[in-house]
Amino acid sequence: MEQEGTEPHVLIFPFPAQGHVNSMLKLAELLSLSRLRITFLNIHRIHHKLTLHADIQSRFSRFPNFQFQTITDGLPPENRPIGKFSDLIHSLKSVTKPLLKQMLISGQLGPTPTCIILDGLFNFIVDVDAEPKIPIFSFRTISACSFWAYSFVPKLIEDGQLPIKGEEDMDRIIDGVAGMENVLRRRDLPSFCRLEDPFDPTLQYGVTQTIQSFKAHALIFNTFEDLEGPILSCLRRRCSNIYAIGPLHAHLKSRLSGEDSPPASESSNCLWEVDRSCLAWLDAQPSKSVIYVSFGSVVVLRESQFREFWHGLVNSGKRFLWVVRPNLVAGKDGENGVLEELEEGTKERGCMVSWAPQEEVLAHDAIGGFLTHSGWNSTLESIVAGVPMICWPQFADQQTNSRYASEVWRIGLDMKDVCDRETVAKMVNDVMENRRNELMGSAIETAKSAISSVEVGGSSYSDLERMISDIQLLCQ
Ligand code: UDX
Repeated sequence: MEQEGTEPHVLIFPFPAQGHVNSMLKLAELLSLSRLRITFLNIHRIHHKLTLHADIQSRFSRFPNFQFQTITDGLPPENRPIGKFSDLIHSLKSVTKPLLKQMLISGQLGPTPTCIILDGLFNFIVDVDAEPKIPIFSFRTISACSFWAYSFVPKLIEDGQLPIKGEEDMDRIIDGVAGMENVLRRRDLPSFCRLEDPFDPTLQYGVTQTIQSFKAHALIFNTFEDLEGPILSCLRRRCSNIYAIGPLHAHLKSRLSGEDSPPASESSNCLWEVDRSCLAWLDAQPSKSVIYVSFGSVVVLRESQFREFWHGLVNSGKRFLWVVRPNLVAGKDGENGVLEELEEGTKERGCMVSWAPQEEVLAHDAIGGFLTHSGWNSTLESIVAGVPMICWPQFADQQTNSRYASEVWRIGLDMKDVCDRETVAKMVNDVMENRRNELMGSAIETAKSAISSVEVGGSSYSDLERMISDIQLLCQ
């Protein structure tokens, strides 16, 4: 093993998915700006995609203490890009985990890390009891409120609130979750709670990783006090060492603005090729006239749902910019006949792209609303841009995020579990027109608090400083 120095060395390892790599790369850049030595470990295929489409090599080359390293996920090539989630987890456990241990022991990743910032979705990948013993900072890419809801699942099963007993049970309020009194209905719990068998491996996986995160040396959240303060207080009763350092993209932007020579382009961590043509299209649209539609990197729509959205958008009479990933519609990978047919009838008021520069789009003056799947990155990006949302959550944390966006933060409308053209058109008109003043008012206030949290003296700024000095202290 290489000799340990007194200089802190942080190993960062994200779960191999867009929403995870994106935020952890931003954290890596923030820590590099504070001159920490960083090793960013990526699954080979993710790294390959990143270097194909993003400017990350040149962005990170300005940090002499930064290195990328890669490791296999062990999946055979025919299973790529991912295949089944359970196959990926099995392979990460059986192939990647022992390999990582070997890489740590042999010094292949550099000096023994001072700590590992590990994606909390796969805490199992490092055996905390094995040698070398390295403190784990568990980074959760989801909201604090959805993480907190996950942690209560065993209790909800025990006292009979789970499993959900059919559709009539869905709107009943959940009891006994501290900090969430009168907020969550059963339909707002993380999606896996809808499974009939409460011991289904998918649900149990989420619960186990949540419980495991509490055992880490520290917990990191991409959130901020003004947004999730009450839940963060509850979490601190279970884990004293919590850093709330988000929104990371705004935090990075704020700290880059103080750099002598910031990188030329916006930091893009995309695994797909970005189509920037939509920015020129937006330039030609009136202020706050366009609804931006994107369902993130994983959600897949049935063709019937895709058509309902399209009709709803067209019937709303509003302009729209819609991200239609090549694999967005089930069974339409590549050829996308339905898209061509619909696109033809859309040209006047709509623009469709396969992948957009989302942060820039949301910040564009022409955008007046965001129809989103409520992924946590998208939610934070919308918050910072002060754009009200229509939330159509699909899985995992998204169900809880959308409830908070509508009922607690009051910056969006929750369209959960509904997908018909009338509702889509109505929601679009509500966000863009009928309820615009009310939603815009709270969206602008929330944006202001998000931005001040990452400025000098703000809560997220201070938590990041505290985290950096805690990492430095681990070396002494
Ligand atoms: C997943 C989960 O869905 C999400 O709930 C969890 O919080 C993180 O992991 P994903 O579904 O991809 O992520 O959603 P989200 O978290 O919103 O991340 C998507 C990212 O892709 C955002 O940073 C967004 O800016 C980016 N994006 C999306 C683009 O850059 N361009 C696009 O066209 C669409």
